[in-house]
Amino acid sequence: MDAHLRELLDLVIRWVHVIAGIMWIGNSLLFNWLDRNLVKLAERDARHEGEIWLLHSGGFYQVEKKQLPPGQMPAVLHWFKWQNFTTWASGISLLIVVYYLGGGALLADPSVTQLHPHAQIGIGVGSIVGAWAVYDGLFRSPIAKVEWLASAIGLGLLFGLAYGLTHVMSGRAAFLHVGVIMGTLMTGNVWMVIVPSQRELVAATVEGREQDKRIGMRAKARSIHNNYFTFPLLFIMVSNHFPSTFGARLPWAVLAVILVVGAGVRHFMNIRFTFPGWRLPTAALMVLGFAAVFWLTRRPSQATPSGPPVSGAEARVIVETRCVACHSQHPTDDVWKAPPSGVVLDTLSQMKLLAPRIRERAVVTKTMPLGNKTHMTDDERDKLARWIAAGAPIELAPAHAPSARASSSVNTPSWRALPITTPAMAGVAASARTWSRTPTPPLASTGNGDASPSARVASTLGPAFVPSRAMSV
Ligand code: HEC
Repeated sequence: MDAHLRELLDLVIRWVHVIAGIMWIGNSLLFNWLDRNLVKLAERDARHEGEIWLLHSGGFYQVEKKQLPPGQMPAVLHWFKWQNFTTWASGISLLIVVYYLGGGALLADPSVTQLHPHAQIGIGVGSIVGAWAVYDGLFRSPIAKVEWLASAIGLGLLFGLAYGLTHVMSGRAAFLHVGVIMGTLMTGNVWMVIVPSQRELVAATVEGREQDKRIGMRAKARSIHNNYFTFPLLFIMVSNHFPSTFGARLPWAVLAVILVVGAGVRHFMNIRFTFPGWRLPTAALMVLGFAAVFWLTRRPSQATPSGPPVSGAEARVIVETRCVACHSQHPTDDVWKAPPSGVVLDTLSQMKLLAPRIRERAVVTKTMPLGNKTHMTDDERDKLARWIAAGAPIELAPAHAPSARASSSVNTPSWRALPITTPAMAGVAASARTWSRTPTPPLASTGNGDASPSARVASTLGPAFVPSRAMSV
């Protein structure tokens, strides 16, 4: 699919997904809260379950929860089921547009697996469908009678899935698949268990008979599961912003901790109306979870690798060969046609500005280049680390390194023809303006360290600060 079209689809579907998700989860939280705050009034009849007064948007709301007498159905009854469906359907569409189309670029991680994207997609779809079958079967089986046992098995299976998925696709994609699986279980619960139970309730009321208790109980159990899923799922929805989590050495362990903490906090929020001492354990759980995630995502080798100083020119060549295929005002990559996340690395000064993020993604978490598509080596990561540790100098050569050494790592020493310090050149502003109107031609080839990158280095070393839209990142 055309990259531009894909990005716009991503935008529209993501927008719908967030709006529908807010409506669905927001309602779920509100009804949970209502249920726990209803006040049972003694003078009402046996069908009365509780009442509450609310103040919102310029008026008072009187809400009563009750069972209806036989044969009495209001003319209009609101069901609250399409918000869930819209969230799920847009979520699945996003999974396809973002992860499955575009050659599976975000599924790839050569440090984890060499699986073909088709195989990864097969595993992804299989685990989503399979997870529902196993989960639904488990909670319909006799095991479900022992609630803690069934829940423990379910949680164990979910951790197992997280473990397995992080070994067949990138950590980021694995996290997302666990999220899609949880969203699918929730949606299955709504449509296969909770809505049928509500239908039965309506039918029983119309016919004036008792509701089948078993159906009601099962719906209640699934509704509680959904309640516990919400917080962990919301983390997964935003997890792609946090590379240190999915890029950790044991990403599945990080996810497991966050799932437990999220569900645990939800639990204390559920019982807070009957358990006044809920604040302390909640805070303790959050602190413990934070410490565990901190420990799991810390990097043992925070120390900068030792070695000779790395010049701006050397760093530039590395970024030129490994990053600018995507991170350029004019990317040459087959999938990314606009600089991803607005990160443009066309000049040394842009690199200097973004040095902390470059370090985080290319050195610490090694989540860039994406799927290591441009075959970056560990030696190059070390060199970038040293360059950044030395303050990301934009001088062409290190202060006291022999120029012979520097030039040996650059195929054509054309950069040596330039003055050693480039900032403060006359006409910086003018050249910057010309640059953005007539950018240097895109690289003919990347990833093989041929002569063109270093030739381009010379042309992009220019001004100390090149104004560009994307630099506001
Ligand atoms: C194949 C395309 C591709 C290549 C090559 C690539 N990136 Fe990225 N980069 C992306 C995509 C897509 C995103 C946005 C998604 C994300 O953040 O994971 C991104 C995001 C980023 C971000 C911004 C997000 C943040 O964490 O602040 C930085 C910084 C980055 N890349 C650095 C690099 C560096 C450094 C290199 C070269 C060593 C590189 N990238 C190579 C595709 C690429």
